[in-house]
Amino acid sequence: MITVVGSINMDLVVRTDRFPKQGETALGDLYTTIPGGKGANQAVAASRIGSDVQMVGAVGTDAFGRVLVEGLDAEGVHIEHVKQLDGMSGIANILLSEGDNRIIVVPGANHLLKQEEIDGLEYLFEASDLVIMQLEIPLPVVQRTLEICRRIGTPTILNPAPSAGYRKEMEPYWTYLTPNESEAEEIFGAEWENALEQFPNRLIVTLGKKGARYFDGVKHVLVEGYETQVVDTTGAGDTFNGALGVAISEQMPFEEAVRFANAAASLSVEKMGAQGGMPKKEAVLARMRGASK
Ligand code: RIB
Ligand code: NA
Repeated sequence: MITVVGSINMDLVVRTDRFPKQGETALGDLYTTIPGGKGANQAVAASRIGSDVQMVGAVGTDAFGRVLVEGLDAEGVHIEHVKQLDGMSGIANILLSEGDNRIIVVPGANHLLKQEEIDGLEYLFEASDLVIMQLEIPLPVVQRTLEICRRIGTPTILNPAPSAGYRKEMEPYWTYLTPNESEAEEIFGAEWENALEQFPNRLIVTLGKKGARYFDGVKHVLVEGYETQVVDTTGAGDTFNGALGVAISEQMPFEEAVRFANAAASLSVEKMGAQGGMPKKEAVLARMRGASK
């Protein structure tokens, strides 16, 4: 079983053919509300691939809250530890254009999660093969989860996004850290490639369509990404993390686990929405069997 401690948002997605300049009004050609949030996305990614997944998080008492919880439930994610707290659910304002996205998150209920609630969940972390976190919830909640998991010996993936929330104090506790290139640079500086050598087989830097890299203790490894038809890159990193979590919890050899996560991410970008396009396991394995680039 995998437990995800993290954010749950409603994504308010607008698409336009180019990003408007400051003060400019542009016309869009699509608007949709669609479940997201890095935590929920990673939980859904792991669940679609076939893992038993527990979500720990919070939504608000607004209409989005109910839709978000029902959405997770429909995906087979266990929702007993998703709280409904007074106020608004987290939302993400997502602008899609020019093959990329710009996102503003208003955390709402995600920021009402309390560290004390985490203390009561030790039994859940104990029962988990792996616990996955990101940085869209209060940092003390992340820190406490990391500390408990380290103490009881449950491995963790910390996806340090957004990286502004990363703290050096987290370093002794995470098992795996999965920044993208710009997050790696923010956390470790311009020489982040040296940091890879400090954390062999534990620090994995994702490189978008180029794949992902890490240091295996002897040499640097680049696991190349898969050729894909991009519709929407939102949630590609989340799919990578959810899939990596499943692969690691199933004891897949490390390089193969990273390749599996790359393949899952490459499939996820072919459909609209963070969770749209997240594949089942068979689809990931089929892509891995096909042309590797
Ligand atoms: O990683 C993508 C996610 O980031 C979106 O679903 C949005 O909710 C933000 O949290
Ligand atoms: Na998608």
